[in-house]
Amino acid sequence: MTQWTHIPVLASQAADLLLTNPNGVYVDGTLGLGGHAKYFLSRLGSSARLFGFDKDEEALAMARQNVQDARLTAVHASYTQAPQVLKDAGINGADGALFDLGLSSYQLDNPQRGFSLLRDGPLDMRFDLSAPLTAATIVNEWGLADLERILTEFGEERNAHAIAMAIMAARRQGKIETTFQLKKIVESVVHGRGKIHPATQTFQALRIAVNDELGCVRTVLEVLQDIVKPSGRAGIITFHSLEDRMVKNRFKELASGGAWRLVNKHVVAPEYEEVRQNPRSRSAKLRVIERV
Ligand SMILES: C[S@@+](CC[C@H](N)C(=O)[O-])C[C@H]1O[C@@H](n2cnc3c(N)ncnc32)[C@H](O)[C@@H]1O
Repeated sequence: MTQWTHIPVLASQAADLLLTNPNGVYVDGTLGLGGHAKYFLSRLGSSARLFGFDKDEEALAMARQNVQDARLTAVHASYTQAPQVLKDAGINGADGALFDLGLSSYQLDNPQRGFSLLRDGPLDMRFDLSAPLTAATIVNEWGLADLERILTEFGEERNAHAIAMAIMAARRQGKIETTFQLKKIVESVVHGRGKIHPATQTFQALRIAVNDELGCVRTVLEVLQDIVKPSGRAGIITFHSLEDRMVKNRFKELASGGAWRLVNKHVVAPEYEEVRQNPRSRSAKLRVIERV
């Protein structure tokens, strides 16, 4: 069986900024393969607790295996459910919470999950395999206007109209079922620019739409006060400008209200060495806020 790994991004910086109480309660909103969780637990005391959330049950099973620590409670739920899960556990706010957005290398590299344009697989792209909406449904059933809208809003794709038209034309010939079919459709109307494949933004847009990624970020930014207690901190690692803009603006708004303060005025980005060892980290940005 393939042993999947995921190198946690900005792990020591996130731990330095978030772990203020060695025996506190923490939330890992995006447990993934447990990279951050394992590292955080290595820096916490024996009575600390960590609630790890993921929409992906396959990831949760691997995280439990990788972390193997009784201080971890792994929950199959969206991180937007964290307020309720903490409340049900009788916890009145966490000392710290981390949200490491996007997808894990396991999801990206496993062709069966349909996220990668480098690997042929079914057009799936769901974080949660029990959710009804797949990328295939969007590509085969959504109308032109909706396709164009998600390509523009979630992919910041300049050729959204041409790509949406090409998808509509292709699906009249038969169902679009695989990542490589979709990749070829995009290649037929958009030509590559430099190192970025012409279908990169289309794949990003579909993934964001399938998983309502921006909706989840928006929701969690509204309920942070129900996740962290006073003097608790929340940190968010983003990988693209759409998410980073949302986090930056909301954090500024919260800080200007006086109930929160920005812990880092400037965004925390990986050092050269981290990017060299883990190229996936190159676009990562960490912002941390503290509840006053
Ligand atoms: C970048 S990975 C996290 C990797 C993890 N920090 C590690 O070090 O192994 C992001 C994870 O968040 C999960 N995810 C994305 N959106 C989510 C949401 N709204 N609720 C819970 N999990 C989510 C994905 O399924 C994925 O496993």
